[in-house]
Amino acid sequence: MEQYDFRKMSFYQIWIRSFCDGNGDGIGDLYGVYEKLDYIKSLGVDGIWFSPIYPSPNADYGYDISDYRNIHPDYGTMEQFRKVLARAHELGLKVLLDLVVNHTSDEHPWFLESRKNRENPYSDYYIWRDPRFRKKKKRPPNNWFSQFEGLAWEYGEERQQYYLHVFAKKQPDLNMDNPKVREEVKGIMRFWLDMGVDGFREDVITYISKHPQLPDGLPFVPAINGLKFYKDGPNLMTYLKEFREVAKEYGALQIGEAPMTPVNVALNYVSGNDRVLDMMIQFDTMMADCIMVEYVHHRFLLRKLKRAFSKWQNKLSGKAWNALYLENHDHPRVISRYGSERYWRESGTMLAACYLFQQGTPFVYQGQELGMTNIALPSIDMYEDVASINAYHTFHKHEPEAKRMRRIHVASRDSARTPMQWNDSENAGFSTVKPWFYVNPNYPRINAEAEEKDPDSILNFYRKCLALRKQEEALLRGSYREYYPLRGRQYLYERRLGDERILVICSFSEKEQNCRLPKGFDPEKALILLDNYPAAGSGNGAGGRPDGRGGKKTAAVLRLRPYETVVMKISG
Ligand code: NOJ
Ligand code: CA
Repeated sequence: MEQYDFRKMSFYQIWIRSFCDGNGDGIGDLYGVYEKLDYIKSLGVDGIWFSPIYPSPNADYGYDISDYRNIHPDYGTMEQFRKVLARAHELGLKVLLDLVVNHTSDEHPWFLESRKNRENPYSDYYIWRDPRFRKKKKRPPNNWFSQFEGLAWEYGEERQQYYLHVFAKKQPDLNMDNPKVREEVKGIMRFWLDMGVDGFREDVITYISKHPQLPDGLPFVPAINGLKFYKDGPNLMTYLKEFREVAKEYGALQIGEAPMTPVNVALNYVSGNDRVLDMMIQFDTMMADCIMVEYVHHRFLLRKLKRAFSKWQNKLSGKAWNALYLENHDHPRVISRYGSERYWRESGTMLAACYLFQQGTPFVYQGQELGMTNIALPSIDMYEDVASINAYHTFHKHEPEAKRMRRIHVASRDSARTPMQWNDSENAGFSTVKPWFYVNPNYPRINAEAEEKDPDSILNFYRKCLALRKQEEALLRGSYREYYPLRGRQYLYERRLGDERILVICSFSEKEQNCRLPKGFDPEKALILLDNYPAAGSGNGAGGRPDGRGGKKTAAVLRLRPYETVVMKISG
């Protein structure tokens, strides 16, 4: 079946537990999603990606699945899912589910069987290995660490072997080399595609093929020392091709998540007509204030962010298509990272413009469009995320308490998982009862209802950006060019199609500053398509930026206010 044109689209990501509680038990669910479909549509997006909604013991909040063909009772029923799907389709919204097949939950029936002995039909569904013996003591088969919790191996007494878990202990890795497992994956895909689902976001899909010998990794590196032997592995392409065949029958979209996969490798998967994935969720743009993961934090470096943006834009140009995002359920809130909570509205709107107009399909994560910010809970005991809790208790255990908590505040995935702030009533309008997780105390100020009423809100700016992206062919199909990569406080990029040129100017500074414009861009003559400062940008070119606005400008210099963004167009 022919594939729909995902390049024109944009998507909204739902992490359901914190989106909207429709049945009053404090947990977000599909009843709440149903109520909010019109809201989602009103943003101007074309589809929804649901993080996992399947039954799960929630060791990793949904990414540990115990039944691939069902709905978590906390989130509703299959019937309710069908209602959401039908209504979304009526509204013209595509629906993507999360396909999590690198691992299952250890409570999945396959694993419960597999762990019993070495003979049962599921015994080879997971990666089991005999122990190594050192000085007669039983040791794991290799030295890999898991990314979430201690060593990557757990011993199963019953079959006297270790199983591999690249993530939490309760997330055993599937053995994708077993053809039966691959058939299961295809069966799961068909199950949802037959129901009408439009595609998948594929969780750590680049990890599914392990090096056959599972060799020891680097000795003194925590968490990711085995990465080289399970990322982009020897059979990955073959397996992805098999899954692609299924997706093709339905014209389904496939977006792969690829932590730490460099752009040149990514191109193997996402370029050309015989690509095995349509887009890749890369991690480079998530590392402008950290090394590899947010816990190894440093100050935000705009140049690092710009390098990452431009690398993906340039390398994929003409060959493949980008997935654009600044937030999801795995990363803290972007205003708190790359923007400024002090210049909350200004930086929240600027950050929207800094990525939505690049070449690619944008993803907006729930609450990002409201400018939700990080939460700082006083004690680690109040956190839920397995990765945060483990980082606190292991990697940073020798640091002073205040420093350890600061790391959690800047890095925890839980900052992206606080309940959605719908209004200023109790529990932020997320639920009528106490929510499953802490609401950010800033909800009386930052919430959807308040922002609906304010034409200059972050919410309404996202709407403007998503609409503009659809109106301007150059923003969809034009080439990308970055100007002045060495400027440490400004990001300027151009999208060009024929003789139409659109320049996106972003200030990453709390101070006013001059911005020299690239040749050809005369603010007196350009049409201002967008400006995040109220009263500017009437759409009449420089006329929308009167001189009395607090700074003088010459022909090719623009005076930028804190975190200002201006989008201007010239033709001919
Ligand atoms: C990536 C997911 O986005 C994340 O939430 C999860 O913890 C890991 N993969 C493991 O499934
Ligand atoms: Ca509920």
